[in-house]
Amino acid sequence: MNYKVPVISGDGIGPEIIAEGQKVLEAAADKHNFSLEWIDYSIGAEHYLKTGELISEETLKELSGYRAIYLGAIGDPRVKPGVLEKGVLLTMRFYLDQYINLRPVKLLEGVWTPLKDKTPKDIDFVVVRENTEDFYIGIGSRAQKGKSHADFQIRRNLYNIKFGLDIDSDSEEIAYQIGEVSREGCQRVIKYAFDLARKRHQKVSSVDKANVLSDIYGFWREVLLDVAKGYPEVKYDFNFVDAITMWFVKNPEWFDVVVAPNMFGDIITDLGAMIQGGLGLAPGANLNPEGTSMFEPIHGSAPKYKGRNMVNPLATIWAGALLLEHLGQPAAAEDIVSAIERNLFEGRIKTYDLGGSSTTSEVGSEIARLVGLI
Ligand code: IPM
Ligand code: MN
Repeated sequence: MNYKVPVISGDGIGPEIIAEGQKVLEAAADKHNFSLEWIDYSIGAEHYLKTGELISEETLKELSGYRAIYLGAIGDPRVKPGVLEKGVLLTMRFYLDQYINLRPVKLLEGVWTPLKDKTPKDIDFVVVRENTEDFYIGIGSRAQKGKSHADFQIRRNLYNIKFGLDIDSDSEEIAYQIGEVSREGCQRVIKYAFDLARKRHQKVSSVDKANVLSDIYGFWREVLLDVAKGYPEVKYDFNFVDAITMWFVKNPEWFDVVVAPNMFGDIITDLGAMIQGGLGLAPGANLNPEGTSMFEPIHGSAPKYKGRNMVNPLATIWAGALLLEHLGQPAAAEDIVSAIERNLFEGRIKTYDLGGSSTTSEVGSEIARLVGLI
């Protein structure tokens, strides 16, 4: 079996970590008698600075012909923050309709967690982040006095009257951003979370802020209640996002599958990464089960470490394991995770973030070697 996999190594440390991921995935492929054919795409800061193009419709169409993309990182200090992130990363997630952002939070054996008295059996859950809606849809505006946005101003005034406030809705300049939850959009991701819980420990924890943002997240809750009816054996509860950050720290063992709207999912998964040992160990999968999925570490491009062969490639390698699992090679995926665990447990070849002094490529080579031995 041969799999063609587009690779976008991207910016900053992207190329270094992706090279190690490829090394390990190839070792796993050799062992399990399949092959990988990488198709390189130069997308990111370099391409943008040279051509002014972020990602073309043609490239997006081409990418949509594959089942899985391997992505390093996008973002560069030479480009205004948000341009590449929105113009490349979010564009791919949206265009390819990768509506699930799956982020395992699992403390592997041998990894130090900042949570006192917590062990690998306490920290093992999955965050299912909605990935195409919410405050990420990019609809918002800055409005200047006298121009448009009358509806916003009327609502603001009604709110002032209702609460006896005196906030000047006719201020010189305002900005606002719209969050959207659609029935289909949240239904599909919530269903995915319940299906996953069925295969795990039968518990879904939903995240929202329905006490304040009651229109969108009240609706989210309603849809969840509806979906839950189809899964009588799965328990569920609702959590406000502020509270769940507290419980992640105090009682991570409560969680099995956590389902969250896009923005809250973004925030809580950085916290999740920390409790599982740091950003260097946190993989992510942007999934479209019927289409093209994309696998990446959840950390960014860390430009200050670029070219120094220093950063931890394990998140990217682990994301590569998720990619192989997605392509239908679960045994190869399992070997990679076992090799990561064994290396961490034995504690020999580690990068600086885990208290070691090995290089990015030494860690990649060691994992590839262990894959062959396991
Ligand atoms: C992530 C990142 C992105 C996000 C940024 C870079 C657009 O933080 O993958 O978590 O907010 O989704
Ligand atoms: Mn993030």
